[in-house]
Amino acid sequence: MNLRTLPMSRQSAQQSPTQMESTLVVLGPHNCLKLLLFFLHILIISAATDLLPKEALPTKSGYLPVNQTTNSAIFYTFYEAQTPTISSSSGLSQTPLLIWLQGGPGCSSMLGNFYELGPWRISRTQNGRHLTLQPNSGSWNRLFGLLFLDNPIGVGFSIASTPQDIPTDQHTVSKHLFAAITAFVALDPQLFKSRPIYITGESYAGKYVPAIGYYILKKNAHLPASKQLNLGGVAIGNGLTDPVTQVATHAANAYFSGLINEKQKTQLEKLQNEAVQLTKNANWSLATDSRNALLNFLQSMTGLATLYDYRRQIPYETSLVTEFLSQSEVKKSLGVNESMVYEECSDVVGAVLHADVMKSVKYMVEFLVKNSKVMLYQGFCDLRDGVVSTEAWVRKMKWEGIDKFMEAERKVWRVNGELAGYVQKWANLSHVVVLAAGHLVPTDQPLNSQAMVEDWVLERGVFANQKVHNLSLDLQGVI
Ligand SMILES: *[C@@H]1O[C@H](CO)[C@@H](O)[C@H](O)[C@H]1NC(C)=O
Ligand SMILES: *[C@@H]1O[C@H](CO)[C@@H](O)[C@H](O)[C@H]1NC(C)=O
Ligand SMILES: *[C@@H]1O[C@H](CO)[C@@H](O)[C@H](O)[C@H]1NC(C)=O
Ligand SMILES: *[C@@H]1O[C@H](CO)[C@@H](O)[C@H](O)[C@H]1NC(C)=O
Ligand SMILES: *[C@@H]1O[C@H](CO)[C@@H](O)[C@H](O)[C@H]1NC(C)=O
Repeated sequence: MNLRTLPMSRQSAQQSPTQMESTLVVLGPHNCLKLLLFFLHILIISAATDLLPKEALPTKSGYLPVNQTTNSAIFYTFYEAQTPTISSSSGLSQTPLLIWLQGGPGCSSMLGNFYELGPWRISRTQNGRHLTLQPNSGSWNRLFGLLFLDNPIGVGFSIASTPQDIPTDQHTVSKHLFAAITAFVALDPQLFKSRPIYITGESYAGKYVPAIGYYILKKNAHLPASKQLNLGGVAIGNGLTDPVTQVATHAANAYFSGLINEKQKTQLEKLQNEAVQLTKNANWSLATDSRNALLNFLQSMTGLATLYDYRRQIPYETSLVTEFLSQSEVKKSLGVNESMVYEECSDVVGAVLHADVMKSVKYMVEFLVKNSKVMLYQGFCDLRDGVVSTEAWVRKMKWEGIDKFMEAERKVWRVNGELAGYVQKWANLSHVVVLAAGHLVPTDQPLNSQAMVEDWVLERGVFANQKVHNLSLDLQGVI
């Protein structure tokens, strides 16, 4: 992959240690500077060897082109299943493949990789001075292949050959993702072609996940089998999917949680109504601003450290990932040009998708639930895209199964005998409440999130399909 042209976001970003180093090279006819550089180099190499040991390297990583005529490409890291589900001769070639997409818009899936659900998590050593990777026993690649994509182009280590190439809508996002996933499968068709693909993601990926799922199903209908993608299902964690409905739930949610009083509830409702009105008028950019203002107001009213988890005294420490991925040798090991500047979330991409934020993709979920399978899960302590916010739009779904879903039992869900949350399922739709978790569910509940995704994909436990109709239970329901 030719990395000559870098996206604007990187060129305009603040200087990182790596950039400072290359500045020194330019200035460096001086001998002592050269010596200093040499030591810097040694330091970086020795630090990084400790930081990203061989056993923590992805199975594969690099770039997947999204457009044959430009250099735009999606950065990926892939981790093969630790213990494949199917241990027959076909082995890995039938093992499900999960794809993870981060939200934002503009945030890198390397957050998911190194801070949430990947096999190695970044943390600080006890003295707080160094970064260290620790194996994650809740990794989502225990039974399945796990592919992280920095989406859309311009995000994380992905490359947008020009800022104009960055998608402004979900259709173009999906077109790029389809090209990237197809290119990934083509890296080893024998290994990847037959594997069922599950698209997963969080937060603003509540838009991306349905969009690419929908795109795959629509596109497949016009492609020969050899070019189709084998979609198994989609899963959204704490998602923003039908913003016009979701934005109207904050006041009641905060009020009935006891975080605000009635007067504050009325103030929030006024802001919510503005956001709803702007959305209904298709005044997209102002509608997004309005939602942001509402959330900022809620945060200042409650004094919480973060709306992502009302329990937290400090926000999620995602900056650890930035610190880690800014190391030159880490980039090199992952197949990234050292001159790339890693940003946790790209402001440029955020701005390009600003007017997309309040647009609904609910109709895509309605299509997916009829033709594939869908899981919606939320960490219980999230005040941005939590349980109430999701249930509000789910109940409005246009789907012939919705009444049956609404009537389905909300089951108590236990993992190893301990209460983990609640699961409600009917046919292709599953809804999961994850207790003791905020916006980043896999970070807060690694083992439970792992059990959840494994059981959902494999249709086990509370996610098993009920084949026998229990007449006596039905009768109890009538009484
Ligand atoms: C890395 O990027 C720089 C700046 O765009 C470029 O000059 C260099 O050739 C690239 N290196 C590789 C190995 O692609
Ligand atoms: C590829 O990029 C070119 C130049 O930006 C653009 O005109 C074209 O529509 C793109 N193709 C796809 C498939 O996105
Ligand atoms: C968007 O809303 C603002 C504020 O209500 C209004 O001034 C503006 O004319 C609207 N723009 C469009 C394109 O409707
Ligand atoms: C569930 O999805 C399958 C396809 O995977 C479809 O055949 C079936 O009709 C769907 N069920 C409902 C109730 O929509
Ligand atoms: C049906 O439900 C009743 C009451 O919960 C239970 O006792 C019975 O074992 C169930 N039967 C089957 C076939 O699952």
